Amino acid sequence: RICGSVEMERTLAMIKPDGLSGNYTKEIKEAILESGFDIIEEAVFLLDAERASLFYAEHATRSFFDSLVKYMTSGPVHAMVLERHDAIAHWRALIGPTDARKAKTSHPNSIRAMCGLDSEKNCVHGSDSPQSAAREISFFFRDVKSETVEHDEL
Ligand code: TYD
Ligand code: MG
Repeated sequence: RICGSVEMERTLAMIKPDGLSGNYTKEIKEAILESGFDIIEEAVFLLDAERASLFYAEHATRSFFDSLVKYMTSGPVHAMVLERHDAIAHWRALIGPTDARKAKTSHPNSIRAMCGLDSEKNCVHGSDSPQSAAREISFFFRDVKSETVEHDEL
């Protein structure tokens, strides 16, 4: 009997308003589960301008910020805590590049290629580091801190 240890990691995934209004939720969740993630928590939220600005605070000085906040408050978002080994990098790879137009040529199998429109309306979010994952998970959910899980194998 061999005992292995796999370090699990959690990340914050979000289906943005265009993803929800375009009815992509089912397809996105299928891609998530097929890629070996467990969905630990999920809920739908309607962000107001204050909450959306807080979520994207790091971009507050960028020229696209006001438009981004408008977009993020234009309808509900579906936030999920995803878990697997190396979850942050795997989810970023699965969603593809920020600009969905580029995604369609360079990463045609990515989620942003499937349902995004451009560099603003790109249908999904993914945390970009362990620090932002921790911040973004606690932005939406309580008591779902990352932990190391021991797995026994045969
Ligand atoms: P960013 O963190 O650079 O991209 P990502 O979502 O891939 O981590 O930007 C955050 C969001 O800001 C991005 O998803 C959409 C919006 N945005 C624009 O509207 N225009 C832009 O030119 C960029 C770079 C981002
Ligand atoms: Mg980012």
